[in-house]
Amino acid sequence: MSIPEDVITAIRDARHVVALTGSGASAESGVPTFREAQAGLWEKFNPHELATPEAFLQDPALVWSWYRWRRELVARAKPNRGHYALAALARTIPIFSLITQNVDGLHQRAGSNNVMEYHGNLFDTRCFSRDCAVADADVSAAAPRCPNCGDLLRPGVVWFGEPIPPAVLDAATRAVVDCDVFLSVGTSSLVWPAAGLLESARAAGATIIEVNTDVTPHTSQSHYSLQGKSGEILAELVNCLRVQLQKYDDLQTQQ
Ligand code: OAD
Repeated sequence: MSIPEDVITAIRDARHVVALTGSGASAESGVPTFREAQAGLWEKFNPHELATPEAFLQDPALVWSWYRWRRELVARAKPNRGHYALAALARTIPIFSLITQNVDGLHQRAGSNNVMEYHGNLFDTRCFSRDCAVADADVSAAAPRCPNCGDLLRPGVVWFGEPIPPAVLDAATRAVVDCDVFLSVGTSSLVWPAAGLLESARAAGATIIEVNTDVTPHTSQSHYSLQGKSGEILAELVNCLRVQLQKYDDLQTQQ
């Protein structure tokens, strides 16, 4: 896909770019999305049985078996070209903020720093009653227990009905109202409050660029909709940006 020149220019000239990623950004790594027909996790599994605090208390062993399966799947996956492209983009823009709804840690494995994990991380473990992080927890038991207080351990992700971790919520909210370009990558824009970030960025005057294989409720609110796979589109975008920046450098050395 060819990237419109205006998109390259908007990113090249931006002071602050925010990228919000969703599960589509990891699809090319073989990590399933949530809502896509057939391939989506919520097509096969019931989120009310697996991704709420109530479900966890009802059957912690069932919930842990699902999360163990996801941990194994993600541990075998590798970052794709889109993850690497976003890490490269961060090195060419004065301020780059990466907010992800993904819990797979693939952005960090591709070299992105300071990733705002809106929905937590699959590999973190917390004590259910005290809500504190438990490092290097042994979660091999069917329903593992906290080594400190003996209460149930839980995966360190945000479940339905739970708040976004306050520090991440605050940092993400501040970033979106400050950015001049907002990139929405591989998200259906159906889950709040993450879906509201694009609207806040737009209200604050940012140029909105959506990258998705499909249309979303936010496509019509976006200034540019780049339809296709994020790995391919983001890699192409970074290539085009490099060419433009090189032209810039060449011009400056000639002057
Ligand atoms: P969804 O499954 O809702 O949406 C995935 C989006 O990615 C869809 O819009 C697809 O069209 C798009 N997509 C698929 N493959 C793609 C590709 N290769 N390149 C670009 N786009 C692609 O996933 P999310 O929007 O991430 O929350 O879902 C948000 C939240 O809902 C998740 O973080 C999770 C889930 O319930 C929690 O677990 C709290």
